[in-house]
Amino acid sequence: MDGHPCLRAGRARALGPALSGAARPPAGRGAAGANHLPAPATGRREVASLHRVHLEAVRADITTLAVDAVVNAANSALAGGGGVDGAIHRAAGAEDLARACRALGGCAVGDAKATPGFRLPARWIIHTVGPVWRGGGHGEDELLASCYRRSLEVADELGCESVAFPAISTGAYGFPPERAARIAVAAVRSAPTRVGRVLLVAFDLETERLYRRLLSDGG
Ligand code: AR6
Repeated sequence: MDGHPCLRAGRARALGPALSGAARPPAGRGAAGANHLPAPATGRREVASLHRVHLEAVRADITTLAVDAVVNAANSALAGGGGVDGAIHRAAGAEDLARACRALGGCAVGDAKATPGFRLPARWIIHTVGPVWRGGGHGEDELLASCYRRSLEVADELGCESVAFPAISTGAYGFPPERAARIAVAAVRSAPTRVGRVLLVAFDLETERLYRRLLSDGG
């Protein structure tokens, strides 16, 4: 997937001047924990909230993507687990990432917190906690939308240009995939973010088709 020209472009931007200062992880990338996150980058593109996010659907293992940040579908203890969370922990380096996650002290459902990407091609991991599906009458839609919005806010604080999201809550947490995909697309499209490019990452063909249909329908 690194060979995808758009992803290469994203990597080039990730290494470009916008991130050469405050938003870079500390020297010895991967060695420092989340409580050493640098100060947020500011003033990079003041008019960018007028700019519409470019959304793409890709089928990939999110751990291979060379974007500024990958989002992790975590649990509220940030304790690691299965699914995309397990894949991210293994690929980033389980010990380093577990240490950085412990320093964050958990994360509420609908919220998001960042760690460095350690051994991932992505510079950052934004951990968000999706809702467990309980039939739809327990605020699940709003909590899922909040995961996307909060992750983009954290990405803005880090000065990210490109962010890749997995299909949050649609695996172990049981959220209906089509409903989740609609919420993901609407939440990203309406977010007042400076992130320029968002990848909606499908791990299976059905999810990829859903995203492609929604994106070509305009939502
Ligand atoms: N790359 C991209 N997407 C993936 C990958 C991958 N490597 N692996 C799985 N997916 P899930 P949840 C897709 O279960 O429903 C964990 O144990 C997968 O096909 O990972 O939010 C956590 O610790 C599905 O479409 O996350 C939590 O306890 C999507 O990622 C709990 O599961 C989300 O599936 C979170 O459950």
